[in-house]
Amino acid sequence: MHAENLRSVVVLGSTGSIGTQALDVIAANPGGYRVAGLAAGGGKVDLLARQAAEFGAEVVAVADASAVPALKEALAAHHARPVVLAGPEGVAEVAGWQCDMVLNGITGALGLTSTLVALEAGRLLALANKESLIIGGPLVKRLASPGQILPVDSEHSAVQQCLWAAGPGGHDPSRVRQLVITASGGPFRGMKREEMTDVTPEMALAHPTWSMGPVITINSATLVNKGLEVIEAHLLFDLPFDRIEVVVHPQSIIHSMVEYIDGSTIAQASPPDMRLPIALALGHPERVPGAARPIDWTKAHTWTFEPLDDVAFPSVALARHVGSEGGTAPAVYNAANEACLDAFMRGRLPFLAIVDTVAKVVEEHQVTPADSVEEVLAADAWARARAAELTAGQSR
Ligand SMILES: NC(=O)c1ccc[n+]([C@@H]2O[C@H](COP(=O)([O-])OP(=O)(O)OC[C@H]3O[C@@H](n4cnc5c(N)ncnc54)[C@H](OP(=O)(O)O)[C@@H]3O)[C@@H](O)[C@H]2O)c1
Repeated sequence: MHAENLRSVVVLGSTGSIGTQALDVIAANPGGYRVAGLAAGGGKVDLLARQAAEFGAEVVAVADASAVPALKEALAAHHARPVVLAGPEGVAEVAGWQCDMVLNGITGALGLTSTLVALEAGRLLALANKESLIIGGPLVKRLASPGQILPVDSEHSAVQQCLWAAGPGGHDPSRVRQLVITASGGPFRGMKREEMTDVTPEMALAHPTWSMGPVITINSATLVNKGLEVIEAHLLFDLPFDRIEVVVHPQSIIHSMVEYIDGSTIAQASPPDMRLPIALALGHPERVPGAARPIDWTKAHTWTFEPLDDVAFPSVALARHVGSEGGTAPAVYNAANEACLDAFMRGRLPFLAIVDTVAKVVEEHQVTPADSVEEVLAADAWARARAAELTAGQSR
């Protein structure tokens, strides 16, 4: 294939779990893609420089400007000469760089600007950074044209595939009874609330089925991640919260389902491997051959499903509440959680206090419409500050 026929991609968060797996998919398909730009926080400059050299990126940015000298040194050592940009503005410039598609694999609320810039520039957006859609809901939806956002989260990629599989009319909301989002249940599945009193970060980081970055892994232990995904599903597929069900499926093979009004349910199944949903977004509308291993049908399998325990894991019901409130409420839920998760990781907060504190911050918040970036960022900052006040002096 000629270079001009390659899909040019910008990978944001290229040194993270999603970013490195996206580059794996690209490396395995040399005739399919060209990497136009890379961006990361600045914590792993040698990896970033190696990526820039291997993929011939035109531009590289790090959010932490103090990492630039080390990055330049590493780039020289790898004989790579991309344009180097620094700071959040540099990352935003890469998000708007000339290309066909931006993959946003930044973690947390910090990804909002990049999502908005990529959409505004008219790029296809492969969205792993669910937080930007959730906190910027109305803003992001206003900017995005139909089909411009391609979900990378495995559950939403699965829903998308189920809707396609249902054929013409499969997307028609009047034919869909509900979306069924699956959850592994995390490392504490089956435990009662009181059994989670002494959970440590090491225990919360031991996810049974997925290997992911630290924030999403802890969010999977509290099930806040599932709460965020319910809001994400509502925003992506335009269904009300009472038609988005969560079911616990410990094997993580069925990634989600769509139930139709005639009682038929379509499910998407594959072994847990993020390279599949990443490839589905990168290759859209084509499928990428060999992106991930399929299910081995020569072996016996048992797939089980159980209802979510909302008493032990109140985070999903809380997410439904903030999602239904809309406006700045989801941004407050997310920001309070990010602040509490950080405190938990530093040994300054017990595990159960994460969601308890998020609930208190959400309750105190006066919701506004989230019509501007400033309003979202102000709600985000307020929630972080309030969470810090409420948790001051606590320890694990
Ligand atoms: N991992 C998964 O399997 C998975 C599955 C579904 C959805 N997601 C979603 O995908 C997103 C990324 O998750 P992850 O697990 O890949 O996280 P991760 O492993 O922690 O990686 C985060 C990436 O973001 C970069 N970064 C941090 N701050 C940044 C900033 N201010 N500007 C630009 N880049 C910055 C990091 O760079 P440094 O290395 O320099 O810090 C790193 O490259 C999250 O929204 C998560 O919920 C992940």
